[in-house]
Amino acid sequence: MTPRENFGSRFAVIMAMAGSAIGLGNIWRFPYMVGEYGGAAFIVVYLVACFVLALPIFFAESIIGRRGRADTFGSMQKLAPGTGWRWLGLLTVLSPIIILSYYSVVGGWSVEYLFKSLAFDFTGPDARIDGFFGHFISSVWEPIIAHTLFIALVAGIVLGGVKKGIETFTKICMPVLFVLVIVLVFYSLSLPGAGKGIAYLVKPDFSKLSAQAAAAALGQAFFSLSLGVGTILTYASYIRADENILTSGVATAASDLFFAILAGFAIMPAVFAAGIAPGTGPGLVFETLPFIFNRMGTAIPWLSALVAIIFFLTILVAALTSAISMMEVGVAYLSEEKKLPRWRAVLYITVFAWVVGILCSLSFGPLANVHILGNNLFDFLDKLCSNWMLPLGGFLFTVFCGWKMSKADVYDEFTNGGTKNRNLFRPVYFLIRYFAPIGILVVFVSALLFS
Ligand code: TRP
Repeated sequence: MTPRENFGSRFAVIMAMAGSAIGLGNIWRFPYMVGEYGGAAFIVVYLVACFVLALPIFFAESIIGRRGRADTFGSMQKLAPGTGWRWLGLLTVLSPIIILSYYSVVGGWSVEYLFKSLAFDFTGPDARIDGFFGHFISSVWEPIIAHTLFIALVAGIVLGGVKKGIETFTKICMPVLFVLVIVLVFYSLSLPGAGKGIAYLVKPDFSKLSAQAAAAALGQAFFSLSLGVGTILTYASYIRADENILTSGVATAASDLFFAILAGFAIMPAVFAAGIAPGTGPGLVFETLPFIFNRMGTAIPWLSALVAIIFFLTILVAALTSAISMMEVGVAYLSEEKKLPRWRAVLYITVFAWVVGILCSLSFGPLANVHILGNNLFDFLDKLCSNWMLPLGGFLFTVFCGWKMSKADVYDEFTNGGTKNRNLFRPVYFLIRYFAPIGILVVFVSALLFS
């Protein structure tokens, strides 16, 4: 067997982890949630959720992954041999593959929209926007073809391996992504009437803070930081022993938050400038924005076409770097535990996620009437993962790191053998051991009770 690959540098680790974290969740979920749950007030709650609940889980996953030096199943098996914990490892192999399958459908939408904007379909006098989104996602072939293209791209990158595939791709794309979104922010803020959008994002409204808002903030922090399903664990298993886990965690969380806020300032001012009520969910990006591009396009058509292209390229790149991290979890498992060659592992995961993704895609069209617990397949899988699997996984990772692993091992990993971050160990260990698991439980149960 070839030796295990590692990320080449600290920059590479941070770009790969930030690439996983920054994705569709930042672009459509965050801006909308901020507006919905009280603007700046929500951002404060989100910050707290990120730094005292999500970040400890991030550290727990990092510690388990780098200590175990294996895929999720293998790491758990190594660190707690002969116990049932490896089944948690296996559970967390399954969830990212499920997430990948419906995430890839939305990734496919961004492929389609990029093509449309390249063809100037959203701009100019004969733009065809009205009802386009609904028509597109409920049709049979186009979204499936787009989904296929997207997942093939993901498979191609993951096939290249940790260094040549994931590292190279994220090292190039993440800086580009930041440049793209900053261009969009400037454009958006320059629009007449942008002020209302800014107010929507920053005006604190403390009356909207509720148990629901706290649960929403926590769920968003989980999803946005790719926690609870072994993505970070797997990436951390490729971090070299002399790298600092604290730095990569804080840098990832900070860039994720920064990007989410930038995305908010890129989208909301434009939405309000166009006089449109902010939509929810994917509709915000895929339904609302083409209208905006079109409306602006009457003045300077080429400019709005260019902005549309930049916009959907941003979404596509962000989605790609996240999707590869989901695929890598399963690929690492199959190649390390089942000893499959990498290409085979990639093939199996791709085919599985592709087929489930097709069903998800059809659940907006011909299969719309097939309901599981009142949801179509797409929404069912999303709710299953976001509301249940991620918090459960995150909870169990902190319990494993805080209670099952020996304190000496955790100390050794977190401080690199007692050479770094020594003063921070105690508070972080406290957060991992008590605060995070209890906090997750409290938020989770109160959301269940109040919903
Ligand atoms: N964090 C990504 C986003 O914000 C999505 C993502 C990647 C993810 N890997 C994950 C979500 C693992 C949950 C679990 O879009």
